Amino acid sequence: SNQDTHPMDKTFALIKPDAYPRREAIIEDIKKCGFTILKQSEPKPTKEQFEEFYAEHKERHFFNDLVAFMQSGPIVAMVLQKENAVPDWRKTIGPTNSLKAKEEAPESLRAKYGTDGQANACHGSANDDDAKREIEFCRVRYLDPLHLRHPPDIHH
Ligand code: TYD
Repeated sequence: SNQDTHPMDKTFALIKPDAYPRREAIIEDIKKCGFTILKQSEPKPTKEQFEEFYAEHKERHFFNDLVAFMQSGPIVAMVLQKENAVPDWRKTIGPTNSLKAKEEAPESLRAKYGTDGQANACHGSANDDDAKREIEFCRVRYLDPLHLRHPPDIHH
């Protein structure tokens, strides 16, 4: 199938609570970098949903702080499209720690809009499998406006 022979052209992005006030500038940068925003919403995931989103880190010392930080304010969720979307978006956001980003990749979004190793402005899927999982997770769990407006009626 096409999926087997062509690299993924979609990835999943979040603008985190620390950068939400600067979301319009970030979205301008995203478009300037050649990404098409296929979907955009402002979901309000529960604590449990963020714990599932970051499940790979559940044994790490920073896990509880991370989940609390992600719930500390509004976020923007996006599906981005571009050739080589996954690695290109990771390069666009830069190193995980915004302090390191400011040193090593000053044009990156984490350098421009982030603060430190937690408040780092943006999320980007790490690989194709994560991108598929994160896009699907958000579509099913809290992004799909039809789902939110018309929850399935279990009695019919
Ligand atoms: P990680 O998946 O390692 O980084 P990335 O977001 O670049 O894929 O970590 C997920 C998030 O967890 C990261 O964006 C910020 C937070 N985090 C901390 O708060 N402290 C830490 O020491 C690390 C490694 C991450």
